[in-house]
Amino acid sequence: MGPSTLLLVVVAMAAAMGGCFAQMPIPARTDGFAYGKATAWGEAVVVEAYFDPVCPDSRDAWPPLQKAVQHYGAQRVSVVVHLFPLPYHSNAFIACRSIHTVNKLNASAVYPLLEKFFKYQEAYYNQPTYTKSRETVVAEITNNLVAPVIGEANLAAYKAGFNDSMSDQSTRISFKYGCARGVTGTPYFFVNGIPLGDSGSPVDYDKWISTLDPLVGKM
Ligand SMILES: *[C@@H]1O[C@H](CO)[C@@H](O)[C@H](O)[C@H]1NC(C)=O
Ligand SMILES: *[C@@H]1O[C@H](CO)[C@@H](O)[C@H](O)[C@H]1NC(C)=O
Repeated sequence: MGPSTLLLVVVAMAAAMGGCFAQMPIPARTDGFAYGKATAWGEAVVVEAYFDPVCPDSRDAWPPLQKAVQHYGAQRVSVVVHLFPLPYHSNAFIACRSIHTVNKLNASAVYPLLEKFFKYQEAYYNQPTYTKSRETVVAEITNNLVAPVIGEANLAAYKAGFNDSMSDQSTRISFKYGCARGVTGTPYFFVNGIPLGDSGSPVDYDKWISTLDPLVGKM
């Protein structure tokens, strides 16, 4: 078969395999949730954190990063959190989809919900949920974590949004976005686009200060 025939076969195979080699979907907005009053791109040092809401190291990484942002102020250090559902955490995709759903209802509730997941994540680890159905886990997350954050009055809208293919799509995009940037675990950090060597384990406050001090205020 000639080169052009071969190319056609490859293209046809790619199409048949459900777009494995196709262009990744380009989201209408860049992935990620800006924390607090994060300023415009280019005005501040930008820290991007990839977190899995049911990952203990992500949970432990959040308070020192939050403290560092408070130290510099959001005008000087902007934090953007990306959700990255790890495939070996059974409930990670559900957790990330839950946060994306809440974001559509009330963007201010994203961080309170992420912090709820961090606080109560142990109930959603693989072992304690092994015998639970997906339906049960989704209901527990809805009632125990989401309801206190968004209020009972918004639960019907939340449940519909959680089921909607849009929240599924947003969560897939978060995952693909991390993959496209070489994220292999959580927490994973980029400072002004450059990956931090300590990624995969929590970075403590002192390490944030020693990393950010040389950058803050310099242009
Ligand atoms: C959105 O969520 C925040 C944080 O939970 C809450 O303070 C605020 O009242 C909510 N806004 C609406 C319109 O529900
Ligand atoms: C969500 O989808 C599940 C499974 O298809 C269905 O049982 C449930 O009623 C749906 N919930 C809402 C609020 O649409």
